[in-house]
Amino acid sequence: MSNARIPGRNFLFVPGPTNLPDRVLRAMNVASEDHRSSKFPELTLPLFAQLKKVFKTTTGHAFIFPASGTGGWEAALSNTLSPGDKVLASRFGQFSHLWIDLAQRLGLEVIVQEEEWGTGNNPERIEEALRADKSHSIKAVLATHNETSTGVTSDIGAVRRAIDKAKHPALLFVDGVSSIGSLDFQQDEWGVDIAVSGSQKGFMLPAGLAIMSVSKKALAAAATAKVRRAYFDFNDHVKANASGYFPYTPALPLLYGLREALNILFEEGLEQVYKRHHHLAEGVRAAVRAWGLKLCAKEPKWNSDTVSAIMVPDGFDGAKVIDIAYRRYNLALGAGLSQMAGKLFRIGHLGDLNELMLLGAIAGTEMAMLDVGIKVTPGSGVAAAQAVYRAAPLLQA
Ligand SMILES: Cc1ncc(COP(=O)(O)O)c(C=O)c1O
Repeated sequence: MSNARIPGRNFLFVPGPTNLPDRVLRAMNVASEDHRSSKFPELTLPLFAQLKKVFKTTTGHAFIFPASGTGGWEAALSNTLSPGDKVLASRFGQFSHLWIDLAQRLGLEVIVQEEEWGTGNNPERIEEALRADKSHSIKAVLATHNETSTGVTSDIGAVRRAIDKAKHPALLFVDGVSSIGSLDFQQDEWGVDIAVSGSQKGFMLPAGLAIMSVSKKALAAAATAKVRRAYFDFNDHVKANASGYFPYTPALPLLYGLREALNILFEEGLEQVYKRHHHLAEGVRAAVRAWGLKLCAKEPKWNSDTVSAIMVPDGFDGAKVIDIAYRRYNLALGAGLSQMAGKLFRIGHLGDLNELMLLGAIAGTEMAMLDVGIKVTPGSGVAAAQAVYRAAPLLQA
């Protein structure tokens, strides 16, 4: 890459932050204003109501914290649990790992169920662990809905059924950072007590907001929870949010951006948003098959519709593919993290995307792989994805 300006758009295909729609960019271009004015709730109250529709909850309380998804994890745990409380969590990728690490740092005792990376939550093992916990000392189950590091989606409804079958009262906390707003998510139906998301993925915004929805049961747990918390205290927000305010200065442009992003999501329709993500992902998966490569996801049931983690053949370094794609073709792919470093690269396919954008990413990936010596047939991935996209185009003319 020379130092000259690179014309055209950067092809941003990391699995978050995602592309910002022009409408969202324009909506965020606002002057500062008084967040204590009598007019301010006209912006905020509808946001809380609309967010509940995205989480698919009628009884949950939507929270908007100035933070990233990690802050949402901390808010979930610190508001509901006490030091030494036991939580049950499965680890099968870098983000499920980091949530466990955060829980341990908050002084919780985490019972870790190790699952192979490339798989996800195992409802049978969760049920077994809960049945064995006769004294109900496990206070919460942590489940990562979409493990972004390996491109794995888990069945959260099945995790709920496992908890119910064990007749266990544990709260269910779900990381939906790279799923909510892109993949079907049903807080009430699945009995999710806290769902955590972030602004920079399905919500098509810059990072900066932790967006959450909390059940009545989880809010009640805050009354006795003793993990120290201040900035992220649910109660401060509940009180201020009731009239459309926040306990401290909100990130105003992001709130205007969120309003527009929600408009965009509802104009398309959530069900169509999920279908589009599946369709775009199917094209990427067809390309991977045509290249003769494998996904990190061990079986199709784990395939994520928001991100594909693609294993590079033995003897090659996934980081080189990513670097060439970036430096030569202005294409940003996601890196392999932790134990997957060098072994894979990721194509994020979530947010404001369509078929031709994906074809550009697939073409660039193919060129970068050829450049590092991976023997894929030139054009094969693009042709395979084209076939998927032509068979059922998003725009039915
Ligand atoms: C599944 C998942 N959980 C949590 C996080 C952490 O979120 P953040 O980086 O917004 O703090 C990420 C970030 O990519 C993620 O993909």
